[in-house]
Amino acid sequence: DWTPDMIRDEVEALKHKPGAMLPILHAIQNRIGYVPEGAVTIIAEMLQKTRAEVHGVISFYHHFRTHPVGSKVIYVCRAEACQAMGCRSLESHIKARLGVDYHGTTIDNELTLEPVYCLGNCACAPSIRVNDDIHGRMTPQKFDRLADKLTV
Ligand code: FES
Repeated sequence: DWTPDMIRDEVEALKHKPGAMLPILHAIQNRIGYVPEGAVTIIAEMLQKTRAEVHGVISFYHHFRTHPVGSKVIYVCRAEACQAMGCRSLESHIKARLGVDYHGTTIDNELTLEPVYCLGNCACAPSIRVNDDIHGRMTPQKFDRLADKLTV
């Protein structure tokens, strides 16, 4: 977990650079895995910005997370071959099934959903990856079975 001192260290180390906010957010996410709400207050105070300004930067860059990542990350391929094989309806199904949008994590902190652009498995589109395992020819039914296994 994180402590306010960790955040202060990162801000202190970088705050004198021009455009310090981005490198600071990167450093914090690298260290903790996400940018906690408590960090926003500390960053704002130390950089003499408002919390809204810090939030603005965080939400502008999809790279930043504000919640811990789940223990398993599901990547849904959105690139051409998978699109041609219906990944758009598959992704709606997956979002509805998990109750999260892209970059979101389920309330039990188990599963995080991310888009990805080609998994190198186009011949078996549509493809998804769960951590390091690629699953091809994905269908809503197959995903439901997989999701049941992932959440036990
Ligand atoms: Fe989806 Fe290549 S386009 S795996």
